[in-house]
Amino acid sequence: MSERIRIAILVGSTKGRATAVATAVAAELTARGRAAAVVPLDRADAATVAAADALVLCTSTFGSGGVPANAVEFLARLEAGDIPCADVPVGWIGLGDRSFRDTYNGGWRRFERAFRVAGAVGLGEPLLFDAADALLPAADDARRAARIAEWTGSFDAALAARLAPTPRR
Ligand SMILES: Cc1cc2nc3c(=O)[nH]c(=O)nc-3n(C[C@H](O)[C@H](O)[C@H](O)COP(=O)(O)O)c2cc1C
Repeated sequence: MSERIRIAILVGSTKGRATAVATAVAAELTARGRAAAVVPLDRADAATVAAADALVLCTSTFGSGGVPANAVEFLARLEAGDIPCADVPVGWIGLGDRSFRDTYNGGWRRFERAFRVAGAVGLGEPLLFDAADALLPAADDARRAARIAEWTGSFDAALAARLAPTPRR
């Protein structure tokens, strides 16, 4: 029997919105047969990354285009080159608020830069949420769930293509 693909969903969050999105993504990936785990960034380290076949980086933005407090130390270690992740596939999810204008969704952008410099491979388009975009709560929930399902399907397909063995000639 083949091993399940292991995906660590690394979460930076202040009030739990990013955590809720990450939990929904984990449920979608699990339904697709992957082994997905939500890991708050203050509990993630090099071993978390080494044990995963792929990552999803899911963070909100805090301060002025910065990352949430629970993500600060991991980001610093990543930027210092202390989190080996060459060739690791990463999907991106960002939560922000467009009313912050120039720093809109700056948190995941900082991570994207740092992961790319460290040699990780971005997979597909980011899934971005704008808190200023609130609809009626029920409509908002349904739309968020639909966007999460669609994004997770695309991420999973890109990951399967990336991890597929290259045929020998
Ligand atoms: C003090 C504070 C500063 C924020 N700064 C930014 C910002 O610079 N850019 C942005 O896009 N969103 C900013 N946000 C909005 C949050 O990222 C957004 O509300 C997000 O959904 C929060 O998710 P969380 O509960 O997972 O942290 C800020 C929110 C707070 C409370």
